[in-house]
Amino acid sequence: MHGKFITIEGTEGVGKTTNIEFIQAWLNSHQLDFIATREPGGTPLAEQIRELLLMPRDEKVCPSAELLLMFAGRAQHLDQVILPAVQSGRWVLCDRFTDATYAYQGYGRGMDNGLIAQLEQLVQADLRPDLTLILDIPVEIGLKRASQRSTPDRFEREQTEFFERVRQGYLSIATGSPERCVVIDASQPLEDVQRDITGALNDFLAQELR
Ligand code: TMP
Repeated sequence: MHGKFITIEGTEGVGKTTNIEFIQAWLNSHQLDFIATREPGGTPLAEQIRELLLMPRDEKVCPSAELLLMFAGRAQHLDQVILPAVQSGRWVLCDRFTDATYAYQGYGRGMDNGLIAQLEQLVQADLRPDLTLILDIPVEIGLKRASQRSTPDRFEREQTEFFERVRQGYLSIATGSPERCVVIDASQPLEDVQRDITGALNDFLAQELR
């Protein structure tokens, strides 16, 4: 049987790192064989592409160059890591995937959704996540949390309005794909966030075992 493909999404400062650790503990407690990976990145080449994408630079990065680099890294990541894992029956937990491209490059930068869908088809064929958890938080709160971390990367330097569009993008994606996406209110206290994540994971597992 193929492994399941779970993705975690959200704007800056939603608490992905802490909650990914929590999901790993859940997967372990259910004796599910899994790998945890991330995008952009996940292979040596794709991690180099990540550095190119995140590094602040004086040169303006043209939106289509950014979009193509995201998909270049994704093609490599799928070929080397995600597909082999899923095909051998392992679960894959991925910190961001193509929903981030729709949210950031599409809603955030204004790239055409149809164009993103064409690249998605080219790079992924019919592979889509089985479950996507979208951690949602008001942008101001998220940015305040994120600013307490290290020096901001090229995306974190964007204006609040950019992240507002990204957030709305994620919420629209969730409305459009309710069978796959679960929105988690990440502004709640951590134990409530994690209770909701556990609920979503338990529901997903129960549905898979049916
Ligand atoms: P991270 O900080 O969550 O690791 O993600 C790195 C940044 O890359 C984050 O600001 C979102 C951005 N990103 C995109 O713009 N498009 C994408 O397709 C992906 C995967 C990430």
